[in-house]
Amino acid sequence: MEVSKRIFQLETETAFAILSKANELAIKGKDIINLGIGQPDFPTPKNIQEAAIKAIKDGHHGYTPSNGILELREAICELVLNKYKSKTRPDNVLITPGGKPVIFISTLLLGGEDKEIIYPDPGFPIYRSMIRYSGAKAIPLKLSEKDNFQINIDELKELITDKTSLIIINNPNNPTGSFMNKKQIFDLINLFEQHPKICILSDEIYSNIIFNNESMPSLLEYENIKDRLIVLEGWSKTYCMTGWRLGWSVWPDKLITHANKICVNYNSCATSISQYAGLEAVKGDQTEVMKIVSEFQRRKDYIYTELNKMEKFSCFKPGGAFYAFPNISKTGLSGNKFSEIALEEKGVALVPGSSFGDNASEFVRISFANSLENIKEAIKRLSTI
Ligand SMILES: Cc1ncc(COP(=O)(O)O)c(C=O)c1O
Repeated sequence: MEVSKRIFQLETETAFAILSKANELAIKGKDIINLGIGQPDFPTPKNIQEAAIKAIKDGHHGYTPSNGILELREAICELVLNKYKSKTRPDNVLITPGGKPVIFISTLLLGGEDKEIIYPDPGFPIYRSMIRYSGAKAIPLKLSEKDNFQINIDELKELITDKTSLIIINNPNNPTGSFMNKKQIFDLINLFEQHPKICILSDEIYSNIIFNNESMPSLLEYENIKDRLIVLEGWSKTYCMTGWRLGWSVWPDKLITHANKICVNYNSCATSISQYAGLEAVKGDQTEVMKIVSEFQRRKDYIYTELNKMEKFSCFKPGGAFYAFPNISKTGLSGNKFSEIALEEKGVALVPGSSFGDNASEFVRISFANSLENIKEAIKRLSTI
């Protein structure tokens, strides 16, 4: 048997491997604190759970339209209008099983042998994996600690060529926790305006988890790039719904039909029950979300302060998402070795920076998705490495 050569271009997401290793050690009786996986540790809010149960009882068991139920796409248009003053039609909204398929679809649509796609490094590992799978050349845009992990516009300019078909950005950023505010986004938009043939994938999945009273500058606010902008969003992080597999995205007219065709071929539709739950999430009470964000902020403040008190760590101040990304080079260890010791000897699961590209081998990602009490204990253990 010979499998398709393309399959060897696919990479994986180390966070999942670390999660299963941590679970394995926990089953064997080891006391493990998991700061590895990027999923909130809170339950899905009750009103959302109840909407799902109601959907089952109401008989919403069947396939839905492949782009999602109309009520949900309309609710997303309303959300986008209220939050970003951006007008979108339900036909331009795509509901998918999680946000991840949007990376899959956009790289398949805009990739290919003679194309180049720029992606953030460090960044969510699926970008590079899927770009390569599409046959395109993956061009890393280095995010540096010296720039507070913000996009360096001059460096981005240098990477753009005639072959660039897509630029992927992620704000707030996984794994660094960096956040670009409106002022910083402005320079980026100016650059995009100079390259009208290039599409943009703006991954905004952490848009609701922003600290210090900043507000989210979605790329949807910029009318002048909307005809080539894809925005990836979803329920996983904001509403603690990672396992429900539900995401939304906004697509330009020229791409939406193709994108929807990939959905028909690949997954038919997102789970009907999750879609009704997602409808309640966006239309219902948001108190729970606000509580969760303020708890993440409390944990972020603690981690940031404590890590920087220790000589061997330096940690950039996260502006959003729920990750800290300390530089651990003063320990004399690589991020890989540090993470290995953290898990096997200290019982703390982390993700090494090397899992997010080629530019972060001296870093580790710490997820705040655990109680403050456990985080305190984990930091104490890490200080002994
Ligand atoms: C930056 C980023 N984009 C997309 C996703 C995918 O989200 P989902 O679980 O909704 O597919 C994640 C999940 O960790 C992420 O961190």
